[in-house]
Amino acid sequence: MEQSSIRTYRLRGSRITGPQQSALDKYWDAYGIEYSTEFLNISSLFPTAEDVVLEIGFGMGEATALIARDFPNTGFLAVEVHKPGIGKLMARVEELALSNIRIIEGDAHPIITTMIPDKSVDGVHLFFPDPWPKKRHNKRRIVNAEFLALIHPKIKDGGFFHIATDWVPYAEYIEEVFAASPLFTGGVVERPEWRPVTRFEGQGITKDHQVTDLRYTKN
Ligand SMILES: C[S@@+](CC[C@H](N)C(=O)[O-])C[C@H]1O[C@@H](n2cnc3c(N)ncnc32)[C@H](O)[C@@H]1O
Repeated sequence: MEQSSIRTYRLRGSRITGPQQSALDKYWDAYGIEYSTEFLNISSLFPTAEDVVLEIGFGMGEATALIARDFPNTGFLAVEVHKPGIGKLMARVEELALSNIRIIEGDAHPIITTMIPDKSVDGVHLFFPDPWPKKRHNKRRIVNAEFLALIHPKIKDGGFFHIATDWVPYAEYIEEVFAASPLFTGGVVERPEWRPVTRFEGQGITKDHQVTDLRYTKN
């Protein structure tokens, strides 16, 4: 099966709260970007930014908003399929008066393919990707050899790919995928100070539920 036809996210009812919908209505034009088959002009989205980070699957955007607040000179291009999360992050962007976040709605695969130019982002954040723990669902994991091949050319030389997961078997699998690839170098790192503690952290401390940070540099 082709990568693009595999769904890596869960289908959820698009139950959206009143405040999330009203944030979408009010702020979409300011912060939202529709899927398009044309490359974005990233430097015109973030004219004063010193660097640009692409975040994949920001969920409700709790970490995204806090990191963007702490790194005002970095532009954050944040991708998510889930509309309520997009509304929620737009509300946070307003609340914190952030000017360095733009949000693309949709599946990261076609978005990365058609909208992100080569060597246009300094780094990629992938925090707590859906772990798809059942064996028959493992193919839905977003990290795989095809995904590395898709993302690699989009990152500037020397740029990074930072992943955090709270599912130990997924962390081990991620290490294997990267170890088999000539495209990146790196591995498990200490939890960086700059990554805010989200609700995934410290939830149900069991053998398999520990947070692992992995950081790779583009070769
Ligand atoms: C487990 S949640 C983690 C959310 C967030 N990063 C956090 O740390 O709270 C994974 C998120 O990735 C999103 N996602 C999964 N596959 C995606 C894809 N192909 N494109 C865009 N978003 C995706 C899901 O909708 C979900 O919101």
